[in-house]
Amino acid sequence: MIRGLRLAALAMTASALLLPSCSNSREANDVRFLVGFSQANLTEPWRIAMTEEIKAEAELHPDMRIIYADAADSTSRQIDDVRRLMDYGIDLLIISPTDSHALTPVVREAYSSTPVIVLDRAVEGYDYSLFIGPDNERLGREAGSVVIELLGVRSGSVLEIQGRSGSPPTLLRSQGLREVLSKRPDIKIVDTVVADWLRDTAEDKVAERIRARPGIDIIVAQNDAMAFGAWRAARGADRNGIRFIGIDGLPGPTGGIELVQKGVLSATFTCPTGGKEAVIYALDMLQHKEGIPKKIFLRPRKVTSAALAASQKGVPYAREEPISPGRRIVLGFAQVGAESEWRVANTKSIKAAASKAGIELLFEDGRQRQENQIAAIRDFIRRKVDVIAFSPVVESGWEEVLREAKEAGIPVILSDRSVDLKDDSLWLSFMGSDFVEEGRRAARWLVENMRTTGSVDIVELRGTIGSAPAIDRMVGFTEVIQDYPNYRIIDSESGDFTKLQGYEVMKGILSREDRKIDAVFAHNDDMAIGAIQAMEEAGLKPGKDVVVISIDAAHGAFKAMLEGKLSCTIECNPLLGPQLIKAVQDYMNGKDLPIRMITAEGVFPSATARKDLIGREY
Ligand code: AHR
Repeated sequence: MIRGLRLAALAMTASALLLPSCSNSREANDVRFLVGFSQANLTEPWRIAMTEEIKAEAELHPDMRIIYADAADSTSRQIDDVRRLMDYGIDLLIISPTDSHALTPVVREAYSSTPVIVLDRAVEGYDYSLFIGPDNERLGREAGSVVIELLGVRSGSVLEIQGRSGSPPTLLRSQGLREVLSKRPDIKIVDTVVADWLRDTAEDKVAERIRARPGIDIIVAQNDAMAFGAWRAARGADRNGIRFIGIDGLPGPTGGIELVQKGVLSATFTCPTGGKEAVIYALDMLQHKEGIPKKIFLRPRKVTSAALAASQKGVPYAREEPISPGRRIVLGFAQVGAESEWRVANTKSIKAAASKAGIELLFEDGRQRQENQIAAIRDFIRRKVDVIAFSPVVESGWEEVLREAKEAGIPVILSDRSVDLKDDSLWLSFMGSDFVEEGRRAARWLVENMRTTGSVDIVELRGTIGSAPAIDRMVGFTEVIQDYPNYRIIDSESGDFTKLQGYEVMKGILSREDRKIDAVFAHNDDMAIGAIQAMEEAGLKPGKDVVVISIDAAHGAFKAMLEGKLSCTIECNPLLGPQLIKAVQDYMNGKDLPIRMITAEGVFPSATARKDLIGREY
């Protein structure tokens, strides 16, 4: 039955299926991959642009056919669309959901048999292959910074126009805006309007509100269409002093770029739709290519009249010309050190991927010291490498050296760990794990598996002080357990991510702690393994008397699980080499890189360790 429908879908012409121009026309025999695209609606200009981008990119790939479905903003219709597309026997589903919560079950259903790329609005959980979307919180923060720039030292009143109530982009953009404005208590968000992303709704609602609120200085709308609607309302009410900020930055008539050029908007931000990337990654997945992340966040760019004038000179970091064929790319990589099994696997993956791609790799081991990494980066600048990549041992203190790299015109890619810098133009792209989520996963596993209302006393072995994974894992873990008052962290110390320190720290804790320890949460496997040794020496049975949970899921952890000494390990994938090298090549070929790429990761409890170990590379 499915085979029949698939053949029918392949044979269909552009007018036959779900949308006016429903599938890219090409000979059925050429088509190897049938992809379904379920779009939330085709009324918002940004979604029209996304669909057009998908079509344009798909046209470049003769072996792919896309079937398009427009849900017309109806959740139930989109659920039916997904089922219908699945019935056609598609090889991969791309979906941009109307409603994240309501679409989660059907996406999960599709993902159980087919790869799924979720675009723009994420679904809940992790039951999909890849998410591609804008960094909504960042968009909100950047809009907030423009409010501050426009007001300067003056105080001010802001009206916020939100998209759809409760949807992730609405919440995240608002959160980002509020975070930035909270630093200026003299600037107040005096009112919020919800306009469902639509120009006319914004116009009607704003017309009403500005009559009631005469003192509004700036209107921040979560998209350009609503900003334009608000501008029309203000003009109708003769309120000429208000400034408008939007998001989307689309080209074309009444797109954000034109609105900035005409002085309607003071600023907007490009919000890449991800349509093109979705098609490229769909093909990569269907061809089983390596290095596919779990989440990709695309970089927004600020559009003001000044930036438009300057952009004739080129976007910062974007290469004007692809690299000339035959020229060897030189990559400088400053590694943290060799502190853990994870790090060793990470180094191996980077070296192997560089060598496979024919890239010249200048590799420096920082021996876990920031000054060594800084010296390595300076050396790369002196040697005029094409790209610098590094995994920062700690989050702060990089401003000066990264500014030197920027001044030398060398882009910097952050691999594995991020930096804490106000100026994010100092780095190009980040790829690695979601450390906060890893911490949450560890805590969720603990709570779900201990299933007790009795008290649970936990020892936490933290990673290197000031490093991104140590900071974020602690945040994620605490965020979850704070909802369970019977779970308490009774001791939290750094073991610097090494086995030796894990052993020493745990030994110290055991010698002075007279309470029973119920669980140990170690920020990596190596420290857990060291702690296991210390517990055994103290006559305890780790994995039995004490639940031990760690992060990384390297071979050492599996060995400990098979011996019954470790209870669970949360994956932190070190195999970043292929992804890093792909990013370096993409950059060198003139492509814009995502701002963040997050790796796919799982949870491995001891109960399934033997099976999970099969085929693991690290
Ligand atoms: O940054 C990733 C962390 O660094 C790994 O979890 C840890 O093992 C490593 O040393």
